[in-house]
Amino acid sequence: MRRVNLSNKSMNKISSLEETKQAFPFSVPSNERAKNPYIHLHQRKRTWTPVKVTADALMPEAEEVIQRALALRCLEIPVGDFIEQAMKGDLPDEEGCIDLLKSNVEDEEKHDIALNFAAQAHKVPDRIEKEAQHICKTWLELDRHPVLKAVVLERSVFFVLLPIFRALGDTGLRTTSADISRDEQTHVAANSLVCEALGLKGDKTINALRRATVSWVLKPLQGQADNKYLSSNFWLASSDSLYANGKAEGLGETRASRMPAFFETNSVNLPQYA
Ligand SMILES: [Fe+2]
Ligand SMILES: [Fe+2]
Repeated sequence: MRRVNLSNKSMNKISSLEETKQAFPFSVPSNERAKNPYIHLHQRKRTWTPVKVTADALMPEAEEVIQRALALRCLEIPVGDFIEQAMKGDLPDEEGCIDLLKSNVEDEEKHDIALNFAAQAHKVPDRIEKEAQHICKTWLELDRHPVLKAVVLERSVFFVLLPIFRALGDTGLRTTSADISRDEQTHVAANSLVCEALGLKGDKTINALRRATVSWVLKPLQGQADNKYLSSNFWLASSDSLYANGKAEGLGETRASRMPAFFETNSVNLPQYA
């Protein structure tokens, strides 16, 4: 915790950390100014509006992988539904938790709108949409806590798809990706806190579904290509690492999203990734 430098005279007057924070509100980091991590996460949100994008030509090798990644937008609303479902059950009894989760559900509606614009522009074939729907159904049917399903999808699937849009997409996709990425950082942090509080952990089954989902997106790519962004091994390894460690060293663009995995989370560290 950062210490505030106080003269002896001041120290006599200000005896506790709480009083110090009140006396010098701007001299402590924003995550310490907020009452708890949920309130901090809510305060650092930034509003944005989905924009209708146009499609530029993509590298021929990247076209189908982008279409598959866009088809998985069908998971945005279900992730919001998972959080709504969770709000009907036990959640950490912490001020700001429910408000943050409600606002995260609204974000998912916005992600759906933004990605629908992108999907229209890039003309995702019906065949791909249907396969994505099947994957979505499998996630819906998976009998795990809804917050666990949400955090695994956001951390180790969406945090791979969003950099794919940035690395292989056009200007519109890069904009959409940047807007959504910031929200998802907040969602992953919030859902990780909830998972930690409720003692929810990943397991073989959810991990296998995570891997199958990402592998389906990557199917059109070669295992190893000269351009690392066209190598399925690169993206799959990133997803594996995000799932296991909460970070992927290879994804420089997603540096801001690095954080401990939900099963090794220490809530003290969580709000510091801004
Ligand atoms: Fe989302
Ligand atoms: Fe999300």
